[in-house]
Amino acid sequence: MTTSFGPSYVRAIAPYIAGKPISEVAREFGLDEAKIVKLASNENPLGMPESAQRAMAQAASELGRYPDANAFELKTALSERYGVPSDWITLGNGSNDILEIAAHAFVEKGQAIIYAQYSFAVYALATQGLGARAIVVPAVKYGHDLDAMLAAITDDTRLIFVANPNNPTGTFIEGPKLEAFLDKVPRHVAVVLDEAYTEYLPAEKRYDSIEWVRRYPNLLVSRTFSKAFGLAGLRVGFAIAQPELTDLLNRLRQPFNVNTLAQAAAIAALNDQAFLEKTAALNAQGYRRLTEAFDKLGLEYVPSDGNFVLVRVGNDDAAGNRVNLELLKQGVIVRPVGNYGLPQWLRVTIGLPQENEAFIAALEKTLATV
Ligand SMILES: Cc1ncc(COP(=O)(O)O)c(C=O)c1O
Repeated sequence: MTTSFGPSYVRAIAPYIAGKPISEVAREFGLDEAKIVKLASNENPLGMPESAQRAMAQAASELGRYPDANAFELKTALSERYGVPSDWITLGNGSNDILEIAAHAFVEKGQAIIYAQYSFAVYALATQGLGARAIVVPAVKYGHDLDAMLAAITDDTRLIFVANPNNPTGTFIEGPKLEAFLDKVPRHVAVVLDEAYTEYLPAEKRYDSIEWVRRYPNLLVSRTFSKAFGLAGLRVGFAIAQPELTDLLNRLRQPFNVNTLAQAAAIAALNDQAFLEKTAALNAQGYRRLTEAFDKLGLEYVPSDGNFVLVRVGNDDAAGNRVNLELLKQGVIVRPVGNYGLPQWLRVTIGLPQENEAFIAALEKTLATV
């Protein structure tokens, strides 16, 4: 008789490791919170748009009541923005919620889910959480190998996760390649195309995934308000897919998974084009600065289309943690990625100019001494 609670596949899960909060680093290293720079969770360094703050303040008087379970106004705003009917949209408590719900909605225990090596950690967690079988396809140049992912499809495969751009590597798949892939995926296999960072793409790299949703009944596009829209703490994400899929998601979704403040703020952020443009410009400028510094330091990095860069800080498998610890002591929080099988690398979120400078200075100092 076993004394362990819960299914073995749940006990086998290694919990998600989040970026360290500023308050925790301040306590652990005896530092002043105000001087700590956090570049660990791919948040928008501009913080929340003022338009969203105002919308939240107005919505605060309604907090005695439950949120609108169907989020009529937010879904209407999204439907207008993306040109799809409201019933093609499902909201999530962050897009993380969408990824989890999709896995539960499309896959039975024991069936297979495909995702790429070095792709977003939640795909593995969602797969393990429902007792599904993971087919992890080796990466090529730290990115998705779509041909190998197609070749990996088995009779019992029900879902493929594709992140574009991918986290933590920042790799990007060009639109035509993705479209050719979608054309070849059998219709009984759902594809979750996770576009958490899509708003950072320069105009020449953009493609119309919403048009693909119209064409492919097995495609779900997942987006978030946590990154470029600046609302990570509010937890709002959404899926766009044809009703056959959204109907399934809605059966599993908690009725009030997006709260009243989050709904109000998301509508405001969605309409704040100026904030999005400022965000993208700041990110492009920060990317140039960080990669220039990596070049100067002779550090390898993976070219990124997100708001972060993966950089190799040493050639031994203790390098990531070692350099990370030295950065923490100097009040700079980045993300070690040993849990992704990348122990020689760190992922750094692109920050405000002064935050990038603080990180570069701390990194230079660390590499000169360790
Ligand atoms: C690729 C990718 N997808 C989804 C998410 C989930 O973000 P959220 O739940 O805040 O929308 C993240 C967050 O880091 C991500 O990097």
